Amino acid sequence: MQEILSFFSSTLGSKKGHYTLRCFGCRAVYDIDEYGKFYRCTKCGNLLEVKRDTTWLRSDRPIQQLQDRNFRRERSGTPESLRRPSYSSDGVWKYFDLIPLWDQSNIISLNEGGTNLIECKNIARRFGVRSLYVKFEGLNPTGSFKDRGMTVGVSKAVELGYKSVMCASTGNTSASLAAYSARAHLRCIVLVPKGKIAMGKIAQAIAYGAEIFQVEGNFDDSLRMASKICESDSSILLLNSLNPFRIEGQKTVSFEIVEQLGTTVPDHVILPVGNGGNITAVWKGFSEIFEIGLESTVGKHIGSRPPRLVGVQAEGAAPIARAFRVGRRDSIDPVDDPHTEASAINIGSPVSWMKALAAIYESEGRADWVTDQEIFSAQRLLASSEGIFVEPASAAPIAYLEKVARLRDAEYSQEYQEMKDSKIVCICTGNGLKDPNALLKGISLESLKTISADERSLEKALTAR
Ligand code: F0G
Repeated sequence: MQEILSFFSSTLGSKKGHYTLRCFGCRAVYDIDEYGKFYRCTKCGNLLEVKRDTTWLRSDRPIQQLQDRNFRRERSGTPESLRRPSYSSDGVWKYFDLIPLWDQSNIISLNEGGTNLIECKNIARRFGVRSLYVKFEGLNPTGSFKDRGMTVGVSKAVELGYKSVMCASTGNTSASLAAYSARAHLRCIVLVPKGKIAMGKIAQAIAYGAEIFQVEGNFDDSLRMASKICESDSSILLLNSLNPFRIEGQKTVSFEIVEQLGTTVPDHVILPVGNGGNITAVWKGFSEIFEIGLESTVGKHIGSRPPRLVGVQAEGAAPIARAFRVGRRDSIDPVDDPHTEASAINIGSPVSWMKALAAIYESEGRADWVTDQEIFSAQRLLASSEGIFVEPASAAPIAYLEKVARLRDAEYSQEYQEMKDSKIVCICTGNGLKDPNALLKGISLESLKTISADERSLEKALTAR
């Protein structure tokens, strides 16, 4: 134990030297500790990403021990030295060494991550696919995958010395940022499109004590405003997913999926896409698994390649899927007036479109859209046949699969052939309880059967069924 502790205290100092920020466009390299000064490349304006020196990880024997601990089949928990004692051993910070935070004392955590990977045999049978799992990210502390990114983003804000943070949001980002800021005693400012976010999410932001501004416009307007303010006022850190530290937290979902599948890489991963941050993160996670040479560490075949990623958008807000449909890689046509009832992904001008398209093409995956009607029927199907209640946006991957299965003899025959024998993971990003109104639309509680408070009437009602 003593040996492990002293090893990690000696590598923590050097950890810093192995991480940089790199421009996704022109590949200019920046020092991470300088990050607070800009969100984008100062040379070409493109987004930045965190890069790790992989040769260091490959050649460093103790780091391999860490990978072994993290990924071995029969886990006995994470070494104490990697986490503060009060943290869950199954969450995001289990992967501390693969995350660019220097000092563990800066960690702001709600024990996020470690969410259930649930096999869905009923739906798999119905769709005619071999194996299907839902990674239920709605089980995170504030009810969405955003917590993975926020624990890292807010911890980094603390490490960089920020006292104020800001985001624009369709709901989940604001709820998550508000929670982590409350724990870190940071001023939290959130911008939300007025009337366009789910009740549960705004209630969360209020409860956690955020300063909330409702913008008379859409999400894209809100993000433009937040970005401008944070660029001109360097005392506020923008924590939307264009912040590369958010991506570093969100990538851990891929590590977990591989671990939970018994150190095996799935064939397809399907997820909803809005701004494009999460698909970027998921791809980064799977790519890193192959970069660090996990296969040789665990001494087992984990899969010959990373999974194909399928990004699913809502029909009325699908600029990335439309670009993919016509084979474009270098541009998208933003949607001026995006519209979908799946409010979380009602985004017309996704800021991470370039990274998202790169993830889709590099993984040899695809992007597609589904209608709101398909989304809502998939939400009900998942709840009523598997017991998993997700918010509308999170049902988009199931809606896509349903569409592929339904059109297997027509325009989706190629997709179906690719998927029917594969191991599929759908990432269901948010909890259904956040947005009960979406589900209850068109349902009057009055229409549910009412009975008087005696056993006789229950008996009568049951036999009349
Ligand atoms: N699913 C849910 C439940 C979301 O809240 C979001 C995004 C996405 C999927 C799409 O992820 O933007 O990284 O492609 N919600 C953001 C928010 C925009 O403000 O909560 P993405």
